[in-house]
Amino acid sequence: MCSIIGYKGKNFAAPILVDSLKKMEYRGYDSVGVATFDNGGIMVRKGTGKVLEVNKNLAISEMAGKIGIGHTRWATHGGVTDKNAHPHSACKNNIAVVHNGIIENYKELKEELTVAGHTFASETDSEVIAHLLEVHHGKGVRDAMIQTCKRLKGNYAFVAVFQDGTIAGARYEEPLIIGVANDGYFISSDVLGFLQYTDKAVFLENGDICIVDNSKLEVFNFEGTPVAHPITQVAWELGDIEKGKYAHHTLKEINEQKITVVHAGRQDEEIISKFCDLLANAKSVYITGSGTSYHSALIFKYMLAKFAKIRAETVMSSESQYALASIEGDSVLVAISQSGETADVLDSVKLAKNQGAKILLIVNVTTSSLARISDAFLSTNCGPEIGVAATKSFTGQLALIYNITDRLCKGCLATARAEFAVAIENVIASQASVMRVAEQMKDCTDIYLLGRSIHYPIALEGALKLKELAYVHAEGIAAGELKHGPLALMEKNTFVIMLNPHDPTFGDTISNAHEIKARGATVIGISDRKDDVYDHWIEIPQLKEESFYPIVEVIPLQMLAYQLALAKNADPDYPRNLAKSVTVR
Ligand code: AGP
Repeated sequence: MCSIIGYKGKNFAAPILVDSLKKMEYRGYDSVGVATFDNGGIMVRKGTGKVLEVNKNLAISEMAGKIGIGHTRWATHGGVTDKNAHPHSACKNNIAVVHNGIIENYKELKEELTVAGHTFASETDSEVIAHLLEVHHGKGVRDAMIQTCKRLKGNYAFVAVFQDGTIAGARYEEPLIIGVANDGYFISSDVLGFLQYTDKAVFLENGDICIVDNSKLEVFNFEGTPVAHPITQVAWELGDIEKGKYAHHTLKEINEQKITVVHAGRQDEEIISKFCDLLANAKSVYITGSGTSYHSALIFKYMLAKFAKIRAETVMSSESQYALASIEGDSVLVAISQSGETADVLDSVKLAKNQGAKILLIVNVTTSSLARISDAFLSTNCGPEIGVAATKSFTGQLALIYNITDRLCKGCLATARAEFAVAIENVIASQASVMRVAEQMKDCTDIYLLGRSIHYPIALEGALKLKELAYVHAEGIAAGELKHGPLALMEKNTFVIMLNPHDPTFGDTISNAHEIKARGATVIGISDRKDDVYDHWIEIPQLKEESFYPIVEVIPLQMLAYQLALAKNADPDYPRNLAKSVTVR
């Protein structure tokens, strides 16, 4: 949820750290801070706000020193205040720490440290790390890191700078990656933190500690035993994380979908065959994900049942500790995740793995923790998704799901898949109707989205986009449930979006639209067929294969949420209170 970065090298650290934090800001963005080491001392500058704003106010990038650490925060323990911003220092200002994760036993540690005479400056759980390092620093940095990690419970990745100019990091259940450049080292929560400087990375494993001292790198585990990890070449193109001509990353990513769905459909023959074999031969199939990725899971379940005759059970990752508590050993769990770092999804995977299940993964970040623990993974190949709201990663997941299903049904969807790219291009090009609807809806307080069958997950996904980007109450409802309760909510000021392409669900959903309209609500139809019942019609292209409608239905909803966010002066790339990658429980 937070981004952390450390640098030790031949260049001035502060401008590099600020640049890295800007690139990783999507991970958390309520406060920013940097500590640098120079002339035998550690300096800290930190405050609330976004990277560029805090840098402007505090001139962070002008800080001296070629060694430093930096952080952007997504608050968990303690409010959004300057004092709670990282880095946190130990009492003697001889150590400063940045942390991502949650220290579960921080209260008892804080009590113990306070009794021992330590003074705390913040309300955070993270500050205990700095004080523990100080306590154990007598025998040097190595021992301090080992002893501190042994005392911490919870999940964490942290990087510390010490008064001798050493930087060190440790990871437990949160990602931490070392960037190896010609003129220095990075320790970062994300490859995007250093990709501009080097594409050579060392991925630390759970329970690893690293120390960069005198320009040399040392990695060992919590017992002090050296561990060796290969240097991996990271493939992503840096240009992908720039906004280019677009006002926001989210808008760029919505527009990119015409290309990303094509890329997601292209897979290595051998890997997709292995993936499909494991899936087809499993005794039981479970599919899990969080948020948007869970909506993909719902569509995957539908596709598997209809075309591959495979029955699967979907489990929201946050519910998996109950739903996956007892599964057969010859099961397969398909996990879906853009980031590959979502804590709830990692928990589901570990739970299933411990019971002997095989793990198949659909992921965008192929260097992620989930990719490293799965039995086989397929990449959505979307490139970095920076906007907090999932857009291109969702349609990428769907395109990949269609590809997998096509394999399993021996090519039954192959011809129809060719129509994707053109259909998406047409939807993206016809934004006028979405703009008109956005204008009508800009002050509305309640939006309901209705769909049946495969359109129901899109009703849920559209509602999620509207909530997170436009801060409006939005609810996805299975259209058949209307008369079982939600109809009571329909009145003059409600807006109802019907997901209603001309497929077997069309007639029933049109009947619902009449029932809603009769109660005075405004009805918006997203359909390839016009109907008089719609107050507003958002046209989508007609598709040969009805199971592919979700991919063209969701794009107008993404655009609507984006437009409504702008109308409310909300930043679509950085919705309030949210972070891109939810690595805490
Ligand atoms: C989607 O717009 C959200 N930002 C969120 O629901 C997201 O899909 C969820 O946190 C899962 O993330 P993942 O795909 O990276 O696991």
